[in-house]
Amino acid sequence: MTTTATLDRSVNGDTGSRRFSILAGRDINRETYVEEWAEAGLTVADSPYDPQPSLRIVDGQVMEMDGKERAEFDALDRFIADHALDLTVAEEAMATPSHQIARMLVDINVPQPTIRRLADGCTPAKLCEIVRHMNVLEMMMGLGKMRVRKTPANQAHVTNWRENPALLAADAAEAALRGFAEIETTVRVARAAPLNALAILVGSQTSRGGVLTQCAVEEAFGLRLGIKGLTSYAETLSVYGSERSFVDGDDTPWSKAFLASAYASRGIKVRFTSGTGSEALMGYAEQCSMLYLEARCLLITKGAGSQGVQNGSISCIALPEALPGGVRGVLAENLLASMLGLECASGNDALASHSALRKTAKLMLQMIPGTDFICSGYSAIPKQDNMFGGGNFDAEDFDDWTVIQRDMQVNGGIRPVREEEAIAARRQAAQALQAIYAELDFPPIGDEEVEAAALAHSSEDMPERDMVADLAAADRFLEGTANLSDVVRALHRSGFEQAAANLLEMGRQRVAGDYLQPSAIFADGFNVISAINDNNDYTGPGTGYRLEGETWDALQRIPQQKSPRDFIDAQVGEPLPNLAEISTAKVGSTANEIVVAVGPAYGTSLVKTIGELDHEEVLEALLTGVAEEEFYGRVVRVYHSADCAAIGHAGARLSGSGIAVGLQSRGTTVIQKRGLAPLNNLELFPQSPSLTLEIYQAIGRNAARYAKGLSPLPVGVKVDNGARLRLIVKTALLHRREIDDIQEKAPQELYFRWEPDV
Ligand code: 5AD
Ligand code: CA
Repeated sequence: MTTTATLDRSVNGDTGSRRFSILAGRDINRETYVEEWAEAGLTVADSPYDPQPSLRIVDGQVMEMDGKERAEFDALDRFIADHALDLTVAEEAMATPSHQIARMLVDINVPQPTIRRLADGCTPAKLCEIVRHMNVLEMMMGLGKMRVRKTPANQAHVTNWRENPALLAADAAEAALRGFAEIETTVRVARAAPLNALAILVGSQTSRGGVLTQCAVEEAFGLRLGIKGLTSYAETLSVYGSERSFVDGDDTPWSKAFLASAYASRGIKVRFTSGTGSEALMGYAEQCSMLYLEARCLLITKGAGSQGVQNGSISCIALPEALPGGVRGVLAENLLASMLGLECASGNDALASHSALRKTAKLMLQMIPGTDFICSGYSAIPKQDNMFGGGNFDAEDFDDWTVIQRDMQVNGGIRPVREEEAIAARRQAAQALQAIYAELDFPPIGDEEVEAAALAHSSEDMPERDMVADLAAADRFLEGTANLSDVVRALHRSGFEQAAANLLEMGRQRVAGDYLQPSAIFADGFNVISAINDNNDYTGPGTGYRLEGETWDALQRIPQQKSPRDFIDAQVGEPLPNLAEISTAKVGSTANEIVVAVGPAYGTSLVKTIGELDHEEVLEALLTGVAEEEFYGRVVRVYHSADCAAIGHAGARLSGSGIAVGLQSRGTTVIQKRGLAPLNNLELFPQSPSLTLEIYQAIGRNAARYAKGLSPLPVGVKVDNGARLRLIVKTALLHRREIDDIQEKAPQELYFRWEPDV
């Protein structure tokens, strides 16, 4: 963005720093930064009003918690005291110094269960006191150990602005193919929910059986969708850390607990939502830090019997990020969730920054340790189609993500896929949904819509649909008796056997209920992995989750990867017919000669420079430059080294004038003078890709001028900062090829037949 400030400055002839003006226009400076203000709840981890940890238990009942007598408890304190704390360990936990528990989190010799046992007895203030001792690196260590499921995973958002069902199905299919363990949708228009839920359910199961799905809508509505068999998890059970914000959400911890049981009773996996910032946004932070309020949320979540939580500020992320230590605080809340044994979908969902650098830096805090779900919604669609309010990482970032995983050998829960696979999965999903719409008498999905969905990036690529008709169909579907089994039958009748089988299996799994275990997802089809059978057993190097074997193979094999064997095909060709070796080169006796010393592979194994100039033309250009100064160019081949400096050095020793041009096959060039140390020289041209024939000719000219005892203006080469980045693999392979031709052999005189045109 060019800021108005930047423009105004130049217009007004302001004397401000040009550098600061450019900094002001950077993405990072589009964000809001504020100082802490504890009274307004604008402090992340440490408010002076936060209570001190304390706990008094009398006859098995908590009589005092965090400085408050039981008589003064609000509803949240009461719920935590009576349902969240494990009183069998609470006194021991509270008596253990907080810094000691913090150290246990970092100490590889202390296993997860030891810490979890103590955490279960900690009050909200105690939990905060523990993590306040930790810096982000220590928290990451703690998170890597305390994460519930050993295998990390990821969750995707699939929505679109037009509520187009074919596109939802196609995007869900691609997300499933990319490996997301959970996919959720939401709505722009509430009434669209049943058909949106259906679309991502069908889309995901067509592509890969076992993906869990949900539709984020108002909680009672969400429950109806679940009962109808359209969703398999529920995540929008929001809890808040102060009584008044909780009540503003029309709830109490008991009503949330009841709702959670209602979901679970229908085989729907439950995860609560909380996170720093919500209470301050609602105006009821009660002067407490965001972290303290979140600690209360987490204990309520646990007390209500939810197996997990999505936290990490979630939709409020921009608020902690406006404050000092905000990103650290968000990591601290993820760590607290994991310490308490809650499956943690760790945020990184809502747009948190404009700056790519800042977004990535924050992501590393969860991606490197690994969490149960790195994103509690990776936007597997473009930002403009994200009805959750815009993703922090979107469909455009897929390749960045998979490359970062490959760089670090870290599993961030997304697999690289090939274009053909993605298109095929998308097409099949849209076709399956088309068949269901036809069978169930919903507004038809046309063939052109299916094809558009297969190839689309965003809803802008889709033909118009009659949304009014779709919404009416959604109402009928919700009110009617049709459910999951009708969808399965429709798929079966239309020949989508595998999709039908997967959907039916999802229904069966809901009855079996194995995926209601803590942190359960389906891996490799319908195998449940959870805290029970995939327990995070990290105890230091070589233990816990390691990205290796088949998964590492799959994650490293990004489609952009090429075989290095094909890299230098352009440089390999027929040896130059007009370059012949005569005899061992002797030291020249005439003062008007310049030696052009070439590398071992020049014009033979390799025939072009890295900049794809023909070796023949490069030689001609150099010799033409030499001839322009009325000097004579003598070509020799150096065999004992492929190093540019060594080639130039050997050439200078043979040159009658003492001046030589050293030339590697990849085009790197040096002007060298006899008597100079090998790594010293007259002019060096290390940026071979930037060298043109004109430049080679100028190099030849300058070499002759040095021989005349002149001091010419060095040849100017434009600096290309990207060249090394672009060509380093090619450089390495060309060098390797040249090294192959090294021989224990003295430099040889070459005869180069050419027609000078001066
Ligand atoms: N605390 C509690 N609930 C939250 N949600 C988002 N952020 C938070 C938070 N920090 C809820 C929204 C919605 C869903 C997307 O998550 O209220 O229900
Ligand atoms: Ca989510």
